[in-house]
Amino acid sequence: SRDILIASSILASDFSKLGQEVRDVAEAGADWIHLDVMDGHFVPNITFGPDVIKSLRPHSDKIFDTHLMIEPCDPYLEAFAKAGSDIITVHAEATKHLDRSLQAIRNLGKKAGVSLNPHTPESVLEYVLDRLDLVLIMTVNPGFGGQKFIHAMVEKTRKVKDMIGDRPIDIEIDGGVTPETAPLVAAAGANVLVAGSAVFKGGTIDSYGANIAAIRKA
Ligand code: DX5
Ligand code: ZN
Repeated sequence: SRDILIASSILASDFSKLGQEVRDVAEAGADWIHLDVMDGHFVPNITFGPDVIKSLRPHSDKIFDTHLMIEPCDPYLEAFAKAGSDIITVHAEATKHLDRSLQAIRNLGKKAGVSLNPHTPESVLEYVLDRLDLVLIMTVNPGFGGQKFIHAMVEKTRKVKDMIGDRPIDIEIDGGVTPETAPLVAAAGANVLVAGSAVFKGGTIDSYGANIAAIRKA
């Protein structure tokens, strides 16, 4: 089976020193940097936009995994591409024309992801599978870090794994990932785990290293 990658969500980091946090978590062993963009409209919280991502870009050469929780998303795809995202993930629920949004991301030269809210069935992926590089399965309702993992999403992960067959599509899990929940989704077929609070707890580079190692080991 594939190696498990850890995508650290900076949502749980200290926003007053984001550049340092990105450098620290990269040095502590994170594989990807997960960037949660929220608009106060699609989700009930507001974070940051493309200018912040652009200013973080020089701080790390890790994959920048941009998770857009914004509606509409299409008008902003180019800005997030230019800011230095490597992967751009849109929510199936936040675009009327998912096929068009995915084509737009690939036309910008970026990898294209689709995220599914907990209530959204995996069947929405059926006719866009060949336009996808990544499926992001929300295991909490998007908007906030530190929420409880929704166990029914383990079965959804299994179904997505079956659907994608041998296509080179990453399956990423987002929300409530801890050393306790990580093995459940890894066994179901996920190969990228987003972790925010479970990585940044402790607030020092040593704790980030220990936290990442604990998830990997689990
Ligand atoms: C939630 C975000 C997540 C969040 C996960 O809407 O998409 O990426 O940061 O945080 P934890 O790992 O604390 O559940
Ligand atoms: Zn996220």
